[in-house]
Amino acid sequence: NYYAVIMAGGVGSRFWPVSTEQFPKQFHDMLGTGETLIQKTFSRLTKLIPSENIFILTNEKYNNQVLKQLPAVKQEQVVLEPAMRNTAPCILYASLKIKKKNPNAVMVVAPSDHWIENEDAFIANLSQSFAYAEQENVLMTLGIQPTFPNTGYGYIEYNKEDTSAIKKVSHFREKPDYETAKSFLDSGNFLWNAGIFIWSIAAITAAFEKFQPAMYQLFCNGYETYNSEAEKAFIEENYVKSDNISIDYAVMENASNVYVVPATFTWNDLGTWGSLYEKLDKDSNNNAIVNAEVFVEDTNNTIIHTDGGKTVVVNGLDNFIVVDRGDVLLIYPKDKEQEIKKFINIVPQK
Ligand code: GDD
Ligand code: MG
Repeated sequence: NYYAVIMAGGVGSRFWPVSTEQFPKQFHDMLGTGETLIQKTFSRLTKLIPSENIFILTNEKYNNQVLKQLPAVKQEQVVLEPAMRNTAPCILYASLKIKKKNPNAVMVVAPSDHWIENEDAFIANLSQSFAYAEQENVLMTLGIQPTFPNTGYGYIEYNKEDTSAIKKVSHFREKPDYETAKSFLDSGNFLWNAGIFIWSIAAITAAFEKFQPAMYQLFCNGYETYNSEAEKAFIEENYVKSDNISIDYAVMENASNVYVVPATFTWNDLGTWGSLYEKLDKDSNNNAIVNAEVFVEDTNNTIIHTDGGKTVVVNGLDNFIVVDRGDVLLIYPKDKEQEIKKFINIVPQK
């Protein structure tokens, strides 16, 4: 009864110029492990879930990349979206599709582009969540101990006195502003949402029916086409009509049956160059150097990342990102890394 949905339709624009619309970060080997992020995600999930029960939702332009990188996945396990509509429609559609196969299924929804260390602990947290979600009408998430007021994450509030392994969530707050995030950290009873969700098909479809009735109707109307030839035509026609909204805003902030399992694994969402820098080995001046032959002087806390074959000479940089990829050279202060995503639209693709 265990199923998984891997969301692989994002663009990873803060990792420009390595991550591009043609070739987003989930399809890259960001940490030089020999496997891409989506390959890692898939093989991690197969430790608990039969590979034929794992669905990949992605944009239609990445179909070939998915099939090439995941040879165990058959075409019928890949759902192709004609347009980006964020994670809520992607999750609802996948849930209804799984429901048609197996209405008693429990599922995990996982991003395709995160880094998880200590996979045994991850699998233990996941099994624990599956077992609870099989019994109860709950929406579960895995929670990460926060370390700084990151405004790019969702925050999960639980009761300070609650010492149980699975905690009831009192509030879910998606992407608060800096001051709010800071107050959450100070109060000590908040976790970051890892963006990994576990629930039964019954629980998640009921939540969509309640909180996103229009989206629910839109996709339910095509129920008879799921897993048939007509499905492609149904998606082409209807997917674009859906609201563009994430699961966090669409469901998690509204629901009262949210529970969290505090994660015992090490997690990094590899959202930005700075988060990649954190994971890499550093030299004695805290510089992380990937693929580059470099002469560095008087330079600290800087990541230098090239696609190889070029010697790089750097002097006088502190806390910078230097990325040389194809015909783009990026030199950017690390503390402004959130801005990098805008260039994916500004710089013309060659
Ligand atoms: N199929 C599909 N279609 N996948 C998508 C789409 C889409 O339109 N949009 C995004 N995704 C995929 C991304 O590739 C990624 O793997 C995952 O869905 C999450 O999307 P992000 O855009 O990366 O979300 P986020 O980082 O802003 O926020 C989420 O993750 C945080 C943790 O990393 C939220 O769930 C936060 O609450 C959470 O803290
Ligand atoms: Mg993300």
